[in-house]
Amino acid sequence: MPLDVKRIWDACGRAFDRFNSSSDSYSEIIERPAIEKLVGRIKGARVLDLGCGAGPYSIWFAECGAQVTGLDLSETMISLAAQKAEERGLRIDLQVADIREPLPFGNAEFDLVFTATALHYVEDLANLFREIGRVMKGSGRFVASVLHPMSTAYFPLPNGEDQREPHYFGELLRSIETPWLGYGEVPDEGRRIVCHHHTTAEYFNALVAAGLRATDLSEPEPPEEYASQNAARFEEAMRVPVYLIFKAEPTKAD
Ligand SMILES: C[S@@+](CC[C@H](N)C(=O)[O-])C[C@H]1O[C@@H](n2cnc3c(N)ncnc32)[C@H](O)[C@@H]1O
Repeated sequence: MPLDVKRIWDACGRAFDRFNSSSDSYSEIIERPAIEKLVGRIKGARVLDLGCGAGPYSIWFAECGAQVTGLDLSETMISLAAQKAEERGLRIDLQVADIREPLPFGNAEFDLVFTATALHYVEDLANLFREIGRVMKGSGRFVASVLHPMSTAYFPLPNGEDQREPHYFGELLRSIETPWLGYGEVPDEGRRIVCHHHTTAEYFNALVAAGLRATDLSEPEPPEEYASQNAARFEEAMRVPVYLIFKAEPTKAD
């Protein structure tokens, strides 16, 4: 199955953005508070957001006073991000680019390299992490949020029926019906998301191979108050963790 990520995201990006901005968005409820803790103070920092999508994090970083560059493969997503930045009067450098290719920057440019739920579209993590290490300053940090490997283990195999049993090892490629179909028109090519399932060890070993040292790891739970807002979604997020969030920095030479 060809992994035409650009075609999928160009087709389903607007619906994803509506879904992701809704009051039930796990991203707002579970992911963002955990990311805020790991990212720390970024006023004046140079920040790179890989797979920035419609820009929720790029915009937040810019509002915190960072100088932000966002890259995304999808023109739909970049134009949504640009529109939102303009509405808020923010200057963000937004570029259409494929993060599987060498990053279009010089060495040691960024204080923070960040990515949220985009690494599942990249097969060769070690190659990307090496590029991240290259563009990051020696004093910089890398913060990544990924769909938790326990969650992507439940994503169906490409040629199988939608399954109930998880597959943790073996098959890397997964294909799942777009969860945001109810959030607007989605043409056929955007109805299934095809992505890679990476195990926790793959993320960790790719950091090590790239000369990066993991310094924090978070598996955030939904806040208790969310149980009264949406009991079913709360239970779902308590059963299988939604996000794995980690922070890494360059390994210091002794
Ligand atoms: C689930 S969305 C997350 C967007 C954003 N980071 C957020 O948190 O809302 C995944 C994004 O990754 C982008 N993406 C996937 N593969 C990519 C690649 N190879 N290069 C750049 N962006 C990519 C998609 O276009 C999409 O916007």
